[in-house]
Amino acid sequence: MEATVPVDVEGEAGGDAAVTAALRQRLAAGGQSHVLRFWPELGSEARRALAAELRDMDVAEINRFFLRARGDGGGAAVAAGLDARMEPVPRDVLGSASRDRELLPRWESRGLAEIAGSRVAVLLLAGGQGTRLGVPYPKGMCDVGLPSRKTLFHLQAQRLRRLQQLAEEQHGTPCHIPWYIMTSGRTMESTKEFFLKHRYFGLKKENVIFFQQGMLPALGFDGKILLEEKGKIAMAPDGNGGLYRALGTHGIVEDMEQRGVQSVHVYCVDNILVKVADPRFIGFCLEKGADCGAKVVEKTNPTEPVGVVCRVDGVYQVVEYSEISLGTAQRRGPDGRLLFNAGNIANHYFTTAFLKDVVNTYEPQLQHHVAEKKIPHVDISTGQLIQPEKPNGIKMEKFVFDIFQFSKQFVVYEVLREDEFSPLKNADSQNGKDNPTTARQALMSLHHCWVLNAGGHFVDENGTRLPAIPRLKDANDLPIQCEISPLVSYGGEGLEQYVKDREFRAPLIIDEDGIHELVKNGL
Ligand code: UTP
Repeated sequence: MEATVPVDVEGEAGGDAAVTAALRQRLAAGGQSHVLRFWPELGSEARRALAAELRDMDVAEINRFFLRARGDGGGAAVAAGLDARMEPVPRDVLGSASRDRELLPRWESRGLAEIAGSRVAVLLLAGGQGTRLGVPYPKGMCDVGLPSRKTLFHLQAQRLRRLQQLAEEQHGTPCHIPWYIMTSGRTMESTKEFFLKHRYFGLKKENVIFFQQGMLPALGFDGKILLEEKGKIAMAPDGNGGLYRALGTHGIVEDMEQRGVQSVHVYCVDNILVKVADPRFIGFCLEKGADCGAKVVEKTNPTEPVGVVCRVDGVYQVVEYSEISLGTAQRRGPDGRLLFNAGNIANHYFTTAFLKDVVNTYEPQLQHHVAEKKIPHVDISTGQLIQPEKPNGIKMEKFVFDIFQFSKQFVVYEVLREDEFSPLKNADSQNGKDNPTTARQALMSLHHCWVLNAGGHFVDENGTRLPAIPRLKDANDLPIQCEISPLVSYGGEGLEQYVKDREFRAPLIIDEDGIHELVKNGL
């Protein structure tokens, strides 16, 4: 039953009752009048804030989203027949950093040429709430405890700077890689302040472009908007696929066109190993004439909770692990690898032209996914704040990969997980996986490999050479502490001059000032 609004909010004393009759009507027509239930108890400031929040909200559209997302044909019904309709990625659209090694130099040089021509941009998805990690600031500001104490934003900025330098050196022309950063209402201000404070980490301010994605209210299972406080709607960002609507709202594609950008690399903020604007990936996509590409890592364990890129009824999409049977997840090809092994890591290539089509034509066709969540909320009848122990409502989100279906030339590029993917999702205390410790270790382990590959060696405190076992065997193994500044090396290149035939004691840091062996120097 619809709760009635107990007061004539328009006639409130103090003249601060900014809720207009039209707004009340809109809420009533949409069956959402209960959000004003506590209006009489609110102070003038809280009233103003709530009124402003509600004025920006398209209640009729939210109700439509809910009905579509919850409607017939969604979720389980589609999933039921999915296994039989799935096909793995065919080899002719697949590039592999490990199986096509001989092609890597060609792809890299094509990508670098494109970067040198300032035709490549990167787009960072940084609008998430990071609820599992639980820090009170945007994830990109996280310092995972590297010897340098660099944050995720800092590492990404320095990788961009190094790549620009490599492209300039090879092609002799100055270039820049515009960095589009999508934030949300929850992360915008602190993200911008952080960049300002760190002077854009040495990048040109005009090439760092912030824009904000949309937010949607959390809903009860009955479609009623939930209140976070008596005068505050429980709002959440509309998923990383909110990107496409935000691109349109903020004129981002036009900005890309004006800058002459033709290729866009889209990635998530939380992958500490991300190769921003990876020239090999870009070169591969260009060579294939792709409008849309997905970088993937091999899924090796059938029960790993990762979505896989595949075709369903001939159309590319990501199928979530929860949507297929164990039998399908366990199927193997003739080479012994899992048949559906293209693990999605939300790392994509798009042409600007494709993004333009998505914004102008396809975005409205995208349907929200429903995530059932435990949503703290104010009980409408008692006014008590409830901390639910089981899911009590939904958040509606679009996903960045929802647009694969519209691609006319889709490609997949497979990379090694230990080289390129270690996401920061959880706090150290919560879960042994994807936390600050695993992120830090993944980066140091990779950099240790780079030193070994460039002819360097590590010795223990007695000067005995340590065995070259570069990869960690389990979570309790500590990697050799080794960190190389992205300003020195983007992907392991150029290190011979620093390390060839030399022996080091860890911790070892190589940065633009040279080599620092912290133990030797007593630091
Ligand atoms: P996740 O789905 O892991 O979400 O985001 P999250 O917000 O980081 O963490 P949890 O689930 O609340 O613990 C994957 C990527 O998508 C971005 C995130 O910032 C991250 O880079 N994202 C997510 C957005 O940009 N917007 C969103 O609405 C959601």
